[in-house]
Parts: sequence; C-alpha cells; structure tokens
Amino acid sequence: MLVILLMLVALPVAEAQQPLGFSHSAHIGKARMQCTDCHVGATSRDQAGIPSIRKCMLCHQFIAKDHPEVVRLAEYWERKHEVPWARVYGFKKEAAVQFRHAPHARAEIACAQCHGEVSTMTVAVKTVRHTMGTCIGCHRENKASDDCLACHF
Ligand code: HEC
Ligand code: HEC
Ligand code: HEC
Ligand code: HEC
Ligand code: HEC
Repeated sequence: MLVILLMLVALPVAEAQQPLGFSHSAHIGKARMQCTDCHVGATSRDQAGIPSIRKCMLCHQFIAKDHPEVVRLAEYWERKHEVPWARVYGFKKEAAVQFRHAPHARAEIACAQCHGEVSTMTVAVKTVRHTMGTCIGCHRENKASDDCLACHF
C-alpha cells in the first residue's frame, strides 16, 4: 500500500495516467502515420477527437499482436469496450470555453505550438499551459478576435 502511495506522489503532475502504454513515437516513426490519421478533426472541425478502438484494430488485428500492450488493447476490443483514455488538455466546464481547432489550422499554427513535440512522446504529456491570457496574447499578436463570445458560450 505504502509503495503504491509513494509511486503516485512521484508521478509528474503534468502526466495523465493512461490505461494502456500507447506510444505516439512508434506510430509517427515506425507506422509513418500523421497526426490527422488519428485526430481526424484537428484541421477541419472544432474537436480533434481521439480515435475509436475500431481504428486501432484495423491494424492491430494483424500488427504486433504479441506486444503486451497490444494484447491488452485486444482485450478491450473483445469486451466491446472503448479504451478509457484520460484527458490531457481541456478546461473546466464552469469556464464555458469553446475552443475550435479548424481556424487555427487555417492560420497554419502547428500542433506543436500548442501541444509540444507529441511525435517524440509515448502518451501525450501536457507541456503547454493554456490560459485566457495565453489565448488572448496570441490573438492580439495575430489580430484575431478578443471578443468574449469568440471563446465563451
Ligand atoms: C496504420 C496502422 C496502425 C494503426 C491504425 C494503429 N497502430 Fe499501433 N502500431 C502500428 C505499428 C506499425 C506499430 C509498431 C509495431 C512494431 O513495433 O513492430 C504499432 C505499435 C503499437 C503498440 C506497441 C507500442 C510500442 O511501444 O511499440 C501499441 C500499444 C499500439 N500500437 C496501440 C495502438 C492503439 C491504441 C491504436 C489506436 C489508437 C493504434 N495502435 C493504431 C500500427 C498501427
Ligand atoms: C492554438 C492552439 C492549438 C493548436 C494549434 C492545436 N490544438 Fe489541439 N487542443 C488545444 C486545446 C486548447 C485543447 C483543449 C480543448 C478543449 O478541451 O476544449 C486541444 C485538444 C486537443 C485534443 C484532445 C481531443 C479534442 O478533440 O479536444 C487533441 C487530440 C488535439 N488537441 C490534437 C491536436 C492536433 C493533432 C493538432 C494539429 C493538427 C492540434 N491539436 C492543434 C489547442 C490547440
Ligand atoms: C495511432 C493514432 C495516433 C496518432 C498517429 C497520433 N495520436 Fe495523438 N493520441 C492518440 C491516442 C490514442 C491518444 C490518447 C492517449 C494519450 O493521451 O496519449 C492521443 C492523445 C493526444 C493528445 C492529448 C489529448 C487530450 O486528452 O487532451 C494530443 C494533444 C495528441 N494526441 C496530439 C497528437 C499529435 C500532435 C500527433 C502528431 C504528431 C498525434 N497526436 C498523433 C492517438 C494518436
Ligand atoms: C499561437 C497563437 C494562438 C493561440 C495560442 C490561440 N489562438 Fe485562437 N486563433 C489564432 C488565430 C491566428 C486565429 C484565426 C483568426 C482568423 O481566422 O482570422 C484564431 C482563431 C480562434 C477562434 C475563431 C474565432 C472566430 O472569430 O471565428 C477561436 C474560437 C479561438 N481562436 C479560440 C482560442 C482559444 C480558446 C485559445 C486558447 C485556449 C486560443 N484560441 C489560442 C491564434 C491563436
Ligand atoms: C481568446 C479566447 C478568450 C477570450 C477572447 C476570452 N476568454 Fe475568458 N477564458 C478563456 C479561457 C481559455 C479560459 C479558461 C482558462 C483556464 O482554465 O485557465 C477563460 C476563463 C475565463 C473566466 C474564468 C471562468 C472560470 O470559471 O474559471 C472568465 C470569468 C472569463 N474567461 C471571462 C471572459 C470575458 C468577460 C471575456 C471578454 C472580455 C473573455 N473571457 C474573453 C479564453 C478567452
């Protein structure tokens, strides 16, 4: 029990505990995938989205089936469960923030500017802090909207 408590205390605060050892770098490197192959809304919609397990299993019915983390993935699949990924970025509901990915992609702002170098990470780690101040700071620099209702609903 004590050991478990100590492990929890030692975790870096920014790192979400994920149910599965997913690796971004393996998919960008070995599998030669792009961010938008999985986060299909990141350039065209409000939400980038997290892929459904169906997408993972298109490949992992065949690829790396013996890898222990892929075995665990297949267990979720057999039980017809989605992987319960913990959220990394986001705002509390009371802040009523409406973030939209598409306008930022149109303005050619790289994913890395707001999320760090995810292509070298295993699971995503929160490396960039987004506050009202950082949003508005960049908006003023780029003559984008600082109207309350652009960002809040
Ligand atoms: C386009 C095919 C493809 C898709 C889709 C895909 N993967 Fe993979 N995945 C790969 C390849 C290729 C590897 C590297 C295998 C190797 O190391 O030989 C890999 C490796 C892995 C590994 C082992 C990690 C490691 O350290 O090597 C895990 C776990 C994994 N994938 C989970 C997932 C999950 C979860 C999804 C869905 C969100 C997913 N994959 C979607 C192709 C894919
Ligand atoms: C201008 C900053 C910015 C840029 C550029 C950006 N994001 Fe985001 N992203 C955010 C913020 C802020 C959130 C949290 C939004 C929320 O929860 O309301 C987020 C959330 C996400 C999520 C969580 C799921 C979701 O749909 O909310 C994923 C995945 C993601 N971004 C991927 C990407 C990818 C891939 C790119 C590049 C194509 C990208 N982002 C570009 C700021 C950005
Ligand atoms: C094979 C599919 C796949 C690819 C390719 C991929 N991701 Fe992800 N991404 C995931 C999965 C699964 C998660 C949930 C686990 C985690 O948080 O790491 C995730 C989580 C994230 C998150 C955190 C979402 C949140 O909860 O707020 C960000 C940001 C993100 N990815 C950005 C990127 C960027 C940028 C790229 C390209 C460099 C990329 N991803 C490529 C599958 C993928
Ligand atoms: C790195 C710079 C940068 C950051 C950081 C940034 N934005 Fe933006 N944002 C822009 C630019 C540039 C546009 C596009 C303006 C345009 O199309 O005229 C934009 C557009 C938007 C739009 C669409 C506005 C409209 O009128 O349609 C919303 C909503 C938005 N951003 C919300 C946010 C929020 C919320 C955050 C913080 C979580 C944020 N942005 C962080 C640069 C940024
Ligand atoms: C460019 C985007 C943007 C604009 C414009 C903006 N906000 Fe925000 N605002 C945010 C984000 C993002 C947060 C959440 C920050 C966090 O979680 O740290 C926030 C948080 C807040 C909060 C705190 C909510 C809470 O419960 O914690 C208030 C109040 C607020 N904004 C009011 C305003 C008002 C009033 C205006 C207009 C004068 C405005 N905002 C304009 C992005 C914006």
